[in-house]
Amino acid sequence: MISLKTPLCDILGISVPICLAGMGAKGKGTPPALVAAVSNAGGLGVIGGAAYGPEMLLRTIRETRRLTDRPIGVNLLMPSTKYNPGKGRDAVRAELTERFPEHVAFVAGLRERFGLPPVTIENDVAVSRAATSDSAALGAKGGPSSVYEEQLEIVFSERVEVIAPALGDCTPLVPRAHANGTRVVALAGTIAHGKRSFAAGADAIVAQGAEAGGHVGTVSNFALIPGMVDAVAPKPVLAAGAITDGRGLAAALALGAQGVWVGTAFLVAEECAVPEAHKQQIIAGRAQDFTANSVYSGSPIRGFRNDVIRLWEESGLEILPAIYQKVLMDDFNAAVEAAGRDDLHNNPAGQGAGNITAIRPAAEIVQTMVEEASVILRNLAR
Ligand SMILES: Cc1cc2nc3c(=O)[nH]c(=O)nc-3n(C[C@H](O)[C@H](O)[C@H](O)COP(=O)(O)O)c2cc1C
Repeated sequence: MISLKTPLCDILGISVPICLAGMGAKGKGTPPALVAAVSNAGGLGVIGGAAYGPEMLLRTIRETRRLTDRPIGVNLLMPSTKYNPGKGRDAVRAELTERFPEHVAFVAGLRERFGLPPVTIENDVAVSRAATSDSAALGAKGGPSSVYEEQLEIVFSERVEVIAPALGDCTPLVPRAHANGTRVVALAGTIAHGKRSFAAGADAIVAQGAEAGGHVGTVSNFALIPGMVDAVAPKPVLAAGAITDGRGLAAALALGAQGVWVGTAFLVAEECAVPEAHKQQIIAGRAQDFTANSVYSGSPIRGFRNDVIRLWEESGLEILPAIYQKVLMDDFNAAVEAAGRDDLHNNPAGQGAGNITAIRPAAEIVQTMVEEASVILRNLAR
């Protein structure tokens, strides 16, 4: 078997160039068992820390450390007050009723259609995009920046080897991380964003194509990866988006990437704690069933086009500004959860789902990816 070890592996202290993407999903996307399994298999397990309040983040890191002594990472979203109005959910709901009655009636109709008793999330601070969706922590601590600072403090004091910032400018973060001996792997969906993180001194850039699950841009990987490799050379690039097997890994390496950042393929790992209904949507779904839409949060997220998204699109109703859309749909999601209807809940996942057919242990996913890529690259070299 030819070695797939790239210079990126030395930078991150790993033996195979495969990283588990940090996935928010309320802690269910990247639980300690999954993060540790990927690190133990030689890759880099990354905790999706964005939605964690400080205590939960600390507990998750320590639990992961108990399961592996290999390097791990934490993903955080850069703090933003852009969509955080600083008001409680009740205030946003009152505005919704007054200004957007048609939307409120439509979502009530959705609940009735699916037989979901109403559930109202308590009146905490409403957050659309911030350093955390743990809005109780946010309300108590006085804003996204202070929660982010606490998250960072934990990442540094726990000596987490890699921090992976996303959705924003990581310039202020990089020198602090380096002073702490923490590597910075910065996510970017455009070359301009990648260049900014490069200029800031990030150790590696994740080029996230439009095929990916979660928050996405519009540039696909065949265009994005080579462009990013050129733009940030000699810094290493990791490819993210629809990489589900050794063919994807080999292709990413051929395009100049030095590693891959994999989300959706690990959502169906045995160790992943997302609902079984979501795993089955990924296994049964076709690539085109995973669309970029703003129904659940007001900003584009690629995920499974379930009946809720289909009905919203058929209704012709416009998507509301982020904070209104999110508060409206958070209550709907709470009703969905209470009724055990995970099939109607937001299920962020990428187009690569079309190529995923089975639930497997994470170590097996890593191992077969490496073996397949190795065979492909050896055969191509003949
Ligand atoms: C369920 C889910 C949650 C995600 N949450 C985050 C997140 O919190 N922070 C982040 O930077 N990226 C997040 N992403 C994007 C991933 O980091 C990664 O770029 C993407 O999953 C790669 O594409 P793939 O899903 O096709 O493998 C998420 C993706 C998914 C599928």
